[in-house]
Amino acid sequence: MTFKVGIIGAGIIGGAFTWGFNEFEETEVVAICDLDPWKTNALANEFHIEHTYTDHKEMLKRDDIDIIYIGVPPKHHKSIFLDSIKSGKHVLVEKPIALNYQEGKQMMDAAKNSSCITAIDLIFRYNLAVKKLKELISSDHIGTIRRLQLTFRFPIWPRDWQQVNWLKERIQGGPLREVGSHFFFLLTELFGSVKRLSSLVEYSGPDCYENGVVGTIEMESGLVCTLDLLADVPELQENTLTIHGEKETISFTDWSKLNRLTKDGVWEFFYEDKGNATQEIIREFIQAIRGEDHDLVALKTGVYTQQILDAIISSNGEWVYFNK
Ligand SMILES: NC(=O)c1ccc[n+]([C@@H]2O[C@H](COP(=O)([O-])OP(=O)(O)OC[C@H]3O[C@@H](n4cnc5c(N)ncnc54)[C@H](O)[C@@H]3O)[C@@H](O)[C@H]2O)c1
Repeated sequence: MTFKVGIIGAGIIGGAFTWGFNEFEETEVVAICDLDPWKTNALANEFHIEHTYTDHKEMLKRDDIDIIYIGVPPKHHKSIFLDSIKSGKHVLVEKPIALNYQEGKQMMDAAKNSSCITAIDLIFRYNLAVKKLKELISSDHIGTIRRLQLTFRFPIWPRDWQQVNWLKERIQGGPLREVGSHFFFLLTELFGSVKRLSSLVEYSGPDCYENGVVGTIEMESGLVCTLDLLADVPELQENTLTIHGEKETISFTDWSKLNRLTKDGVWEFFYEDKGNATQEIIREFIQAIRGEDHDLVALKTGVYTQQILDAIISSNGEWVYFNK
């Protein structure tokens, strides 16, 4: 059986998923929706897709669509997700789940009360370097972990390949939501739940994105992670989780690479993810729809990641405690 897919959002990531779904025999993109008809037409022409829409509600009226992929800015995730679930479609939604925890929770509750398969696109679940890192941690290769460190540097924001205005907006853009969400998910994937956190956030202007964050995230296990983010600085771009262990210091950087710190204090590259997370999540999604075992990231996890984001944004130097 071929599952028919409708794509909502014909931007950067919507294009990647249109390609991704069409690579599988089991899925076929039959309709594309974007507020901007120029974008829907460009994608429809490239992938020979017959049906285009500028209103997702019109697209959702099609009863031949099984799967909806939502790749629009976060401000629109909740309403499009709820409409999609209401129309009985399975839904894969982009991260961050929504604008805040409350919206994410509404989405999660709606999904729970339906028979639809739902998931969030948090890609590190499928990253081979992350899998390798998990092995290194569980095999005690790193030894007792003393400290975690998240470091982000962005010489320009938004990054040069993603020049869209919504990413400058405080309410839905900014590096914490756009990039940090992946790394907060990663922290919990590798080290469990957060006990409490405290942070200070600086903004680039009124209603604009954050360009400076310092913080401390304490895990339930007692492990402490420092958070250090700067945007608009004349430094090289960096997205790194460093794990300081008693036996070894290892960094996961550039979305795919593992480096170790040698005794001479030099970073030595030793592993790289060469997988394709988009393909992996689509594969898992198909398995889930077929009722087979799968490894999708549940909305609940997306909501938890959003809680961490919300806490970092609102802490203002005070400890924010998480319920167990
Ligand atoms: N999982 C990942 O690795 C990853 C990577 C990049 C982006 N994202 C996420 O994907 C989403 C989209 O990001 P992007 O970089 O593709 O953005 P983009 O700006 O390139 O594309 C978004 C598209 O959505 C359209 N749109 C906006 N509101 C709409 C609506 N109500 N109905 C239909 N179309 C609408 C816009 O016209 C635009 O074409 C964001 O949530 C972002 O955080 C995830």
